[in-house]
Order: sequence, then C-alpha cells, then structure tokens
Amino acid sequence: MAENQPRHPFLQGLSKHRGAPPTVVVIFGASGDLTARKLIPAVYNLAVDNLLPADFHLIGYGRKPIPDDEFRGMAADAVKEFSRRELNAEVWGRVAANTTYVAGGYDEKPAFDRLAAHIAEIEKRIGRDVQPLFYISTPPSVFAPILLNLGASGLASKHLGHVHHAKVIIEKPFGKDLASAVALNGTIRSVFQEHQVYRIDHYLGKETVQDLLVQRFANSIFEPLWNRTFIDNVQITVAEEVGVGTRGGYYEQSGALRDMIQNHTMQLLALTAMEPPVSLDAEAVRDEKVKVLKAIQPLRVGPGGDVARAQYAAGLLGGKPSKGYLEEEGIAPVSATETYAAIRLSINNWRWQGVPFYLRSGKRMARRVSEIAIQFKRPPGTLFAEGERFNLAPNTLAFQIQPDEGLSMVLNGKVPGLETRTQPVKMNFRYSTTFGSNTPEAYERLVLDAMIGDGTLFIRGDEAETSWRLYTPVLESWAAAKREGMDSYAAGSWGPPSADELLSKNNHIWRKP
Ligand code: BG6
Repeated sequence: MAENQPRHPFLQGLSKHRGAPPTVVVIFGASGDLTARKLIPAVYNLAVDNLLPADFHLIGYGRKPIPDDEFRGMAADAVKEFSRRELNAEVWGRVAANTTYVAGGYDEKPAFDRLAAHIAEIEKRIGRDVQPLFYISTPPSVFAPILLNLGASGLASKHLGHVHHAKVIIEKPFGKDLASAVALNGTIRSVFQEHQVYRIDHYLGKETVQDLLVQRFANSIFEPLWNRTFIDNVQITVAEEVGVGTRGGYYEQSGALRDMIQNHTMQLLALTAMEPPVSLDAEAVRDEKVKVLKAIQPLRVGPGGDVARAQYAAGLLGGKPSKGYLEEEGIAPVSATETYAAIRLSINNWRWQGVPFYLRSGKRMARRVSEIAIQFKRPPGTLFAEGERFNLAPNTLAFQIQPDEGLSMVLNGKVPGLETRTQPVKMNFRYSTTFGSNTPEAYERLVLDAMIGDGTLFIRGDEAETSWRLYTPVLESWAAAKREGMDSYAAGSWGPPSADELLSKNNHIWRKP
C-alpha cells in the first residue's frame, strides 16, 4: 500500500493509532454557520478523544477583521452551544492556545500571501513542517477564487511530494449542474492533484452509513440475497421535519433535488447497490460506486416519467399549524423550487436489472427519518395465502440512518393461539441500546480522515460528475416547465400523490418508516 494511503478505518477501528500528523487546519468562511455548528465542535471533540496531533493549529480565515482573542471567544461559544460534549476548560485551552485568525478577501492574493507567511511562521516557531488542510466552507461563488489563490500563493503545493502535504476539503454544493461541476473540477485540478482533494458529503461520515458497508460485507447471509432474484425493490427515504427556516435565499437556488437527492441519497444508493470492492481502500470503494452510478438508466421526465416534485402546502406538524412553502420568508410567491422530490431509478447491470430503486426526500414531512429499506420478494402463496388469517408483509431489511439508528428486519410470524394466524414481526438492533448513544458526529470522522489522508468517505471528481449527468436533464426540464407539473403535499404528511403514482405502476407502495 502506498505510504500516503493508510489502512482504512473500517479495518482498524477508531483508535489513537489513527493519529494525524502535525496539521494546520485553515477554515475559509470562519464566521459562518457551518463553522460554528459543525466544524469547531468537531475539532473540539477530536481534541477530547485525543485524536488531534500534538502540533495542531487552527486558523480562521474570513473577510471580516476579527482579533484573535475574539475569534477564540466565538469558537468557545460554538463549542458551548453545539458540541455533543460539554466544554472542558483544559482540553479547550489546548486548542485555543493554537487558534488564530487571518482577515482577507477571497480574491485578494496578498491576503493569501499573508496566510502563507503565518503558516511558515508557525512552522519556524515549532521547528517542524505542518501539513496545511484547507477547509472551504464558504458560499460556492467564492470556491474558485479561493482555489486559485491557494495555487498562486504556493499553498496548494506546500510539502507536495512528502506524505503529509497540503490538502483541501470542499463543502457542498459541488456545482449546481453537470457543467458547473465539470468547471469546478477543472479549477480544482488546475491547482491540486486529485489525491489532495476531499469533496464532502456529510452523510458518508454518519456512523450508520459506514455500518451499511460493514453489514453488507462483514456478514455472509446478505450477499447471496443481494440481487434481482430475491429483492423486489429498494426504497431510500431522507425525510425532514424542518422547513426552509431562514435559509430561503439559498434554498430557492437549490431545491430538494440539488440539496439532498443528487448527493446524500445517491451516496446511500451507491453504497447499497455497488459490487463488493476488492479492498476497503479509497480508490477501490470509489471505483465501485462510480461503476454502479454509471449503470443507472437516464431518467424520463414528464407524465408517466420517473420523477415527481412538489412543494409543501400549509398543514399540521405535531398538531400545530404550519405554513406552506410559498408563505415562508424569502420565498417568491410563484417559486418553482421543489421542497420534495421522488425518483424511480433502474440500474442496468447483472445484479439489479428489473429492481426499481425509489428515492425520496422532502422538507416538512411527517417526521425526521432517513432509512434504506430493502424489500424482498414475497414467498409463493401456496401455504399462507394472504387473507383474513394470514396478515403478511414483504420481508424488509431496513437500515435506519437517523434518528434512532439501527437495523430492523420484518419477518412474518405466528400469532400465539390455537388457530394459525400470522402477523408481521420486527427484529431490531438499536445502536443506543447496544453501544450507548454518544456516537461521533459525521464531521469529526471526516475532518480526521482528511487529516490522515483517507479519502474513502469523500466524493471523487468523476463520482460527482456522474451523479450530475443523471440529474441535469431533469433540472433543465423542470426549469423550463416552471410551476407546471409541480405537485403539493400538506406540511406534516408523507408527500404528494404523484410520488405514490411513481410506485403504483409497479404495484408498490411507499413504506411508512
Ligand atoms: C444539508 C442540506 O446538506 O443536509 C440541508 O443542505 C439538510 O437542507 C441537511 O437539512 C440534512 O442533514 P442531516 O445530517 O440533518 O440529515
């Protein structure tokens, strides 16, 4: 194995042996929401778990001038408000002692030179090289200037050729269609080599998403059944109870297809449907993901097609009245942005031909739940024909990604009594009961993996483009149709009738998660 490709965490588990080399993490967009909610708490929790290198430095970078002390105060407040564990003064003190702030524009080369000098000064002070890890957590409009300035200032190639060289993490959204994703990949490649690049999809950092690979490939009972002979359909749901809240400005440019389907649900699909990789190395896993994404048939749009879109209308959430999307702050009254999308996919390969994969994601749905449900074919009805005495459900293996993380299996069992009656019963494995509930947040795993140089849980450039290739025609067709064909669903419900129709053509119904 190459020196800069460490063994994957699935093989070795999270242990202190996964120690990262001396690192300076530079966060672009340091006063932003994501930094406070996720990034600073992730760094803090890595410090609590002793997973940060002894020489760890954090630099916030942003347009607004902020004194170092004030930035440290903001970071401490972020830990207090958003960390899964309480702020421990001693641990935080160690992080804060090496936390500084650099003010500068994203298109201002001299500011990047200042940043480079600041990093060089840290190296001089501690007497050793540190690998820079740039985290681009800004609005996408400044991704390109940041990347280009990292190139122009020499920061992108710092320590290149050594094991611990400069790396860059790029937040979503990775483009808004195929052309913009290709352009962004072009800019990235003009400055960084692919092995330095970590495109984030935070769903890959979730414990249960990683568990999907373990369940699939560390157990022998699933693989023989994991194909068109035994599986009837697969349903992937990422439902949210929240609406757009104050993010109307962003969401209007995005919508459910770009925000959730093209990235998060497609990642769940790729891990569910890919062939077993030859190893758990980043390239082996990502090769298989790209292969299965390429086998997906183009989507048909329009009446009788493979896609449905809708906006939430007023409704009831937890018994309380809830506004419709068009009444939300910052939303155009004639907005054609979908808050819900459902897709029927066909994967044209030996394993999956003829097995529909259904994806759905929406805001303001009945409850927050993300799951992957594998529905098996029904048994022949010769002995227990469905009817009054025999209440039968298709066997379903459901990976519950969140909340209440776990795995369940629906079987049909006999109801105790002298008469033979059947009823679906559920076998449950729950993380919280087996392992306790304080699991690491996705960003902790991802920041650590990037520091170590493990790209398995990040999106490769060709992977992002393959997914956009599938969805760009749908987005174009929706943009041209404006509101025509836009369905609606009551806030607090499970989605619109058009999504049910997608399934009813194959005599399927959405599972109630
Ligand atoms: C983000 C989307 O990527 O994922 C948000 O932009 C969404 O709109 C969020 O709410 C959901 O993430 P999670 O981890 O809460 O399921």
